[in-house]
Amino acid sequence: MIALGSDHAGLPLKLEIIKLLDELGLAYTDYGTDSLARCDYPVYGQKAAEAVASGACDRGIIFCGTGIGISIAANKVAGIRCAVCSECYSAVLSREHNDANMLALGARVVGPGLARMIVTQWLEAGFEGGRHADRVKLIHQIEGQQA
Ligand code: RB5
Repeated sequence: MIALGSDHAGLPLKLEIIKLLDELGLAYTDYGTDSLARCDYPVYGQKAAEAVASGACDRGIIFCGTGIGISIAANKVAGIRCAVCSECYSAVLSREHNDANMLALGARVVGPGLARMIVTQWLEAGFEGGRHADRVKLIHQIEGQQA
């Protein structure tokens, strides 16, 4: 199950990616927004991230104007590794090296064709483990060090 979330700026690209997931036959839950009315991206980044962190969803894909704000919000949830990507190389490496469990896309940055390619390759790529697993563990140790 893939968690989806966006603000108003990310909504058009989220709808494009929903079409892609339907074509691929992949299940998703959309945590909103479903309207073009102005809203706050942290709300939807948090909802989608909590769905991934709780195990309700395996991965998440989130959208705002740049992908930046909503990714920052998602990364505040313990256990989340959200990568904002605007090309395929970083998207694939975010899976292979960082075991990214969420992907953020900027609807004002990438067009629908590139976004489809990024999502497809991100979903197909796997974590390589090994030395990268040790580094991912170190990332999450930082969470435990915060007051
Ligand atoms: C909304 O105008 C915009 O600020 C938001 O979608 C996002 O780009 C923030 O990072």
